[in-house]
Amino acid sequence: MDLFELSSQRFTTKHYDPSRKIPDSDIEKLKEILRLTPSAVNSQPWHFIIGSSDKAKQLIRPAVVDFNWPRTDGCSHFVVLCVKDGLDEAHLDAVTAQEDADGRFPNETIKNEGDSKRKRYVSMKRDRGQLRSWATHQVYIAMAALLYGAASLGIQSTAIEGYNPSKLDEILGLREKGLRSVAIVTLGYGSLDDGNATRKKSRLPADAIFSELD
Ligand SMILES: Cc1cc2nc3c(=O)[nH]c(=O)nc-3n(C[C@H](O)[C@H](O)[C@H](O)COP(=O)(O)O)c2cc1C
Repeated sequence: MDLFELSSQRFTTKHYDPSRKIPDSDIEKLKEILRLTPSAVNSQPWHFIIGSSDKAKQLIRPAVVDFNWPRTDGCSHFVVLCVKDGLDEAHLDAVTAQEDADGRFPNETIKNEGDSKRKRYVSMKRDRGQLRSWATHQVYIAMAALLYGAASLGIQSTAIEGYNPSKLDEILGLREKGLRSVAIVTLGYGSLDDGNATRKKSRLPADAIFSELD
């Protein structure tokens, strides 16, 4: 199924069948989809925390708004999408070292130029007080990749902003790790009584959201 067809078929799951678990092989594919997400200046300002056990679900529950408990309790897996705080020198050096190891640079000059360009760009965002919000935008791209990647594997999902970020960050000790949560995505297979599966999709019409320049 191509992305065009997936776009019209995927939907947000509200109730999962807790007895159905996503196979490890599909979880590995979803992790790779997340890892391969594009980001501005290849900054990759993210970290993903995956949970699937009852213990993990109970751990995050106090931070999740109660209307979302059917998703976090019943899902097979959940992913807490986090943004890296500050994007320090060590992170940017690690990105450049990885690009080097992956053979992205034909020579040292181009490598050094790429490295300083990225560092300048990040500094500019920091100086303007935009670093966190800019980095968070990149994490939302990963979220979209995860939602559509899951659908492409026949896995249903829910993007969840309905939780208390500071509480979740505290429960998971994220600040100490230089991270902040951005959103949760639950993954699994919808239960037979998931009303959303048969609910009509609704979006504003094309003429309300597109315009063309002469
Ligand atoms: C960033 C984001 C946050 C969302 N937060 C929640 C949420 O907390 N709980 C929930 O049940 N659905 C949540 N949704 C699902 C939206 O309500 C849903 O995508 C929208 O109504 C369109 O429906 P569809 O995904 O079935 O096409 C969220 C979606 C996005 C993209």
